[in-house]
Amino acid sequence: MPHRKLRVLLLCHESLVPPPSAEGLDDARYWEVKTELDVKDALEELGHRVLPVGLVDDLTPLRKALDEWRPHVVFNLLEEFHHEVVYDAHVVSYLVLKGVAYTGCNPRGLILARDKALSKKILTYHRIAVPRFAVFPMRRAVRRPRALPFPLIVKSLVAEGSEGIAQASIVHDDDALAERVDFIHRRVLTDAVAEEFIEGRELYVGAMGVRRMNVLPPVELVLDGLPPDAPRIATRKVKWDDAYRQKHGIDVVLAQALPEGVARQIPKLVRRICRALGIDGHVRMDFRLRPDGKLFFLEANPNPDVAWGGELATAAEAIGMTYEGMIQKLLDQAIRRQR
Ligand SMILES: Nc1ncnc2c1ncn2[C@@H]1O[C@H](COP(=O)(O)OP(=O)(O)O)[C@@H](O)[C@H]1O
Ligand SMILES: [Mg+2]
Repeated sequence: MPHRKLRVLLLCHESLVPPPSAEGLDDARYWEVKTELDVKDALEELGHRVLPVGLVDDLTPLRKALDEWRPHVVFNLLEEFHHEVVYDAHVVSYLVLKGVAYTGCNPRGLILARDKALSKKILTYHRIAVPRFAVFPMRRAVRRPRALPFPLIVKSLVAEGSEGIAQASIVHDDDALAERVDFIHRRVLTDAVAEEFIEGRELYVGAMGVRRMNVLPPVELVLDGLPPDAPRIATRKVKWDDAYRQKHGIDVVLAQALPEGVARQIPKLVRRICRALGIDGHVRMDFRLRPDGKLFFLEANPNPDVAWGGELATAAEAIGMTYEGMIQKLLDQAIRRQR
């Protein structure tokens, strides 16, 4: 379908403003800016004009670009402001106040989904299965509720990308729990949450849409190649260490042979979760599928990575959407929401 050529403001962190092309970048730098480059290339390929705007802790460059260049839409790749990942929602609020169309999730969905305890409290009300959990705020003694049995997994309440998650995150007694909570407080500098550890397969489900979310086929993080004693979880290393991933054959593939009931249940479940948490735009949800076939919600990631070859793009490809097609879809959604 032919589309209108648009002025697209590419909003990202100042350190990630994409260079004109990948040429001449060393490996490390290429991986840093891959998403920004992929999106810019796709937008240009689609015939749009692209103005990258990088922010750190001052909105002035954004305000100026909005007022002077008058973009039709902002492609939002910003994940932090003033070094705070939880401020991403506030920048989106600014876009709302400026009345400009933007890709990705609205501020309310970003805030509700970010908090790994708050999101689970809301979903519990809606009778959606989530791990039991307890929150351990900073500067408070660690006292485990008796109804929360081991093993537990200890995480940051709000950090992303498996920050602070290693094999030692799984704890089997109160001493180890207190130690790991303290680690999160001191190293990630956030409150901690300890969750019932859900054994099983790790599934990610992408969805895109405005009022009705279009749910993509589930993908699975394959961890079979890890050493037998290593827990099957997405640690920091599993997610980001390329050499480690290659060594152990870690990969994300379309989920095969899901139990019939689970495959049928997922699209409806994902839409319900999006409604409950107010998520729109695009999202990737993390689930664990227990061997007994029970599916547990772990977290929702609004504004997930949209890199070429990433989880969302892989799932979109499985329903016949090209990468450019996916990027155009995100623009279309942004503009439709604005109307
Ligand atoms: N309750 C849980 N049971 C089993 N594994 C978990 C649980 N919570 C987290 N994990 C593992 O840790 C990974 C990261 O946790 P997640 O809550 O998704 O945080 P992040 O925002 O860092 O991705 C998950 O992908 C999963 O492998
Ligand atoms: Mg996750």
